[in-house]
Amino acid sequence: MKKTYLMTPGPTPIPPSVLLSMAQPIIHHRTEEFEQVFAEVRQGLKYLFQTEADVLSICSSGTGAMEAAVVNLLSPGDRVITVNGGKFGQRWTQICQSYGVSVDELFVKRGQPVDPDVVASRLANGDRYSAVFTTFSETSTGVAHDIGALAKIVSAYPETVLVVDAITALGVIDIPMDDWRIDVLVTGSQKALMLPPGLAFIALSDKAWGKVENSRLPKYYFDLKKELKMQQKNQSAYTPAISLLIGLREVLKMIREERLECLFLRHKTLAKALREAICALGLDLFAPTSPSDALTAVKVPDGIDGKKLVKHMSQKYGVTIAGGQDELKGNIFRIAHLGYLGHFDLITAVSALEMTLRDLGHPVTLGKGVAAAQDILG
Ligand SMILES: Cc1ncc(COP(=O)(O)O)c(C=O)c1O
Repeated sequence: MKKTYLMTPGPTPIPPSVLLSMAQPIIHHRTEEFEQVFAEVRQGLKYLFQTEADVLSICSSGTGAMEAAVVNLLSPGDRVITVNGGKFGQRWTQICQSYGVSVDELFVKRGQPVDPDVVASRLANGDRYSAVFTTFSETSTGVAHDIGALAKIVSAYPETVLVVDAITALGVIDIPMDDWRIDVLVTGSQKALMLPPGLAFIALSDKAWGKVENSRLPKYYFDLKKELKMQQKNQSAYTPAISLLIGLREVLKMIREERLECLFLRHKTLAKALREAICALGLDLFAPTSPSDALTAVKVPDGIDGKKLVKHMSQKYGVTIAGGQDELKGNIFRIAHLGYLGHFDLITAVSALEMTLRDLGHPVTLGKGVAAAQDILG
């Protein structure tokens, strides 16, 4: 037998009580029983999103909610800004371009956060932009962008909305959607929400709903006006992912019990402990300036094969982490610390990393990273 540990930035481990809740016999969705579940879920999502707005649940992975944002806000001929700080920022560009939207892409050096002043000066250049699309926690690089600053800048433009992919940020980092005046906030189920993949979520400000009224891009399944009408009646336009929503009810109960401030502190502490461990081992962080509390990206040390490191750690020690993506393949590895994870999951991951580095011939003092993490966690 080999016990396994999932330390990737999605999917993430699922708590046993959530798994059990989803294993119950399926119920029908056009019933009062389902409506009761959905009513609780809708309340819990508002708490998590820190918003008075409706949070819509969509049956798709996170990218579906990203696409829903684009097709419901925009019209042919619209011009937008996208922040491309990695694979997921680039996805905004790709979705917008697929629908013929004119995109001014801000390319951000990998491992760095976007400079809010650059966004401010692009917006001030006289062009009319319908939206700024950005990522919060750029999962491909481990960077957290300063969304509070971006929201302050964008909210001064009445015709421009700020759309934030918080797919690995929501439930990890404090995101007061209403207070910061974020217009659209998107997430998915398989990250901090501790569920299997298959659900995505999107909340819109009044300003964003105003744009939805005038949007002329084509849409059918992802028609948010249709969804809003149904979801306000605790129903959905099409067959919902019933079992996932039942699991979500359980997750949201756990989150309420933990309380948001403790949830954010837990993630902050785990992230700090891992960063200290990495530095104690003499390794370099890929995103030292503005690291995300959801995951830590680490440069693969010279002389080590990055793909082999990830494979060895999984096959020999049962600890699954993620490698680099696209141009970062082989150059970085990523250890996630979001969702249903505690202190000893992190210590296990650091310990497995030390043993893997030793096996691959990298000089390492076993226990040095673990001790550094323990100092933070104890
Ligand atoms: C920041 C971010 N955006 C978008 C996505 C895409 O989400 P999905 O794979 O659920 O469609 C991911 C997935 O890892 C992500 O981390």
